[in-house]
Amino acid sequence: MASLNRDEKSQSEILFKKDTGDQQQMLLDCGYSEKAVQYFIEQPYMGSLPDADQVSDMLGSCGDTMKIFLKIDDNTITDIRYQVLGCPGAISASMAAVDLVKGKSIEHARKLNDGDVFNQLADIPVKKHHCIQLAVKALHKAIDEYKNGHSDLKDVECPSTCSEPQDCCKK
Ligand code: FES
Repeated sequence: MASLNRDEKSQSEILFKKDTGDQQQMLLDCGYSEKAVQYFIEQPYMGSLPDADQVSDMLGSCGDTMKIFLKIDDNTITDIRYQVLGCPGAISASMAAVDLVKGKSIEHARKLNDGDVFNQLADIPVKKHHCIQLAVKALHKAIDEYKNGHSDLKDVECPSTCSEPQDCCKK
């Protein structure tokens, strides 16, 4: 592919910025909150972890696919990345899920539910709520597969009785 000269590059940058703005407005108009749009545009945890302790994937009933990479140290999720072949709902939900479980124990992360992610996003269209389910299910599957590979962790339960993320769950 031929490379762009400087003028062409700055023109394409302007077009990209314009497209991003249009996309943002479209998502807001569709019912995504500003926070959800920000997750979708910035995609802070999109990608892979070459030294991941667990890699799992999940195919949604809609055909969208997620691959999840977990870095786990001393029972704590120290890093996560998602690769998402999917819609803005799937991307924003998976990015929000990371903010809720990164730095927490795997038992805490296994208890993440759709409502937690919805609250973190503030709002997404009703027809996109199943995208949250896909992000949460992919995380649960990755944790279950990690535990299956570590028999010493299989029966570990979070001793906490809290329903919301708390400091006690970090250990
Ligand atoms: Fe498939 Fe959003 S439409 S996850």
